[in-house]
Amino acid sequence: MFDLNKIRNDFPILKEKIYGKNLVYLDNAATTHKPQVVIDAIVEAYTKFNSNIHRGNHFLSEICTQKYEQARQIVQKYINAVSSKEIIFTKGATESINLVANSFASFLNKDDEVIVSAMEHHANLVPWHILSNNKGIKLKIIPMNSNFELDLTQFENLFTAKTKLVSVVHISNTLGTINPIEKIIKTAHSKAVPVLIDAAQSIQHKKIDVQKLNCDFLAFSGHKIYAETGIGVLYGKQSMLEKMSPYQGGGDMIKDVSYNSTEYADLPFKFEAGTSNYVGAYSLGKAIEYVENIGIENIELYEKELFEYAFDKLSKIEGIDIYAASKENRISSLSFNVKGVHHLDIGTMLDKFGIAIRTGTHCTQPLVNSFGQTGTVRASFAFYNTFEEIDFFIESLKKVIEMFK
Ligand code: ALA
Repeated sequence: MFDLNKIRNDFPILKEKIYGKNLVYLDNAATTHKPQVVIDAIVEAYTKFNSNIHRGNHFLSEICTQKYEQARQIVQKYINAVSSKEIIFTKGATESINLVANSFASFLNKDDEVIVSAMEHHANLVPWHILSNNKGIKLKIIPMNSNFELDLTQFENLFTAKTKLVSVVHISNTLGTINPIEKIIKTAHSKAVPVLIDAAQSIQHKKIDVQKLNCDFLAFSGHKIYAETGIGVLYGKQSMLEKMSPYQGGGDMIKDVSYNSTEYADLPFKFEAGTSNYVGAYSLGKAIEYVENIGIENIELYEKELFEYAFDKLSKIEGIDIYAASKENRISSLSFNVKGVHHLDIGTMLDKFGIAIRTGTHCTQPLVNSFGQTGTVRASFAFYNTFEEIDFFIESLKKVIEMFK
């Protein structure tokens, strides 16, 4: 499908030794590694054109501003937004969701309702809990069935005249479940309720077309799609963003300021107070171009094969409980436990083999607790992983299990 050797050579960290062993990095849902083009872009920015954007009328500032705005256009095209005004740079998916929650606060009254799902990351729960504490809004939860998928029949029943927003995760960071967001969006819109999609775990695995989806908001982080940390995106339909007030004030988001009042800048700048992470944005543009060169559809197909290969091997080990959706609805994150062995012990021992995985609740404590666990072991994949790495992971896991017998 693509030249894996060449791809692995693009990621210098993959050559690192961990305790003298080859690194097997299966913690891609936490963060991804960076290809050389992204690392080079960061160095290039600081060595060639670093300057504050939108403020200076000198040469470097203009170049830096151009690079930042070009990155916005790359993001716009990647997710097929109508306009680059709909692309707000944030510091990550968490800030993007907080931005919507804070701006939406002015539209919400006590007892108004926001629907989220049982699979949300804390980043899509806590901002609403804050609104619940501060404004008395209510959170309703789309339940999950025993197949680790959302129960859409019950979803329909959650709507009332007080429902103001649906905010759901596209792919669960813990379970790898691909949620039927197309149906969720259609159902919500049939009741005139806007929808926010948390795409932190899907933007790097699947083609996202915001016009086709017709979502009102979409949030993601750059570091999950091979860019720098500290840069993220909030996509919002222009009509929605126009209605919303900024939740942070400061330089660059204004048209006019007096001692008594402020007139906000036009979109997208209205939501970008302070000096933006322009180097991060530049690196995100480079990362997206890198992904596009490989082809996101190719990436999805290959990563699906990796997941199913790992799933099959894992399910043959005695005493393993896997928490995964049905075959057609899962990708990227594979969570499990070994009967009688604590997840943290598995992670600690696998680390000694050079294998990086994540253990615990993965910032989805209510979800993990809902299926009766205090944590899971999670292996999460990227297109630079190999079938040989999965073989090594499975063989090492078997050795770890033997040690605890
Ligand atoms: N949200 C990231 C994860 O799932 C950090 O690990």
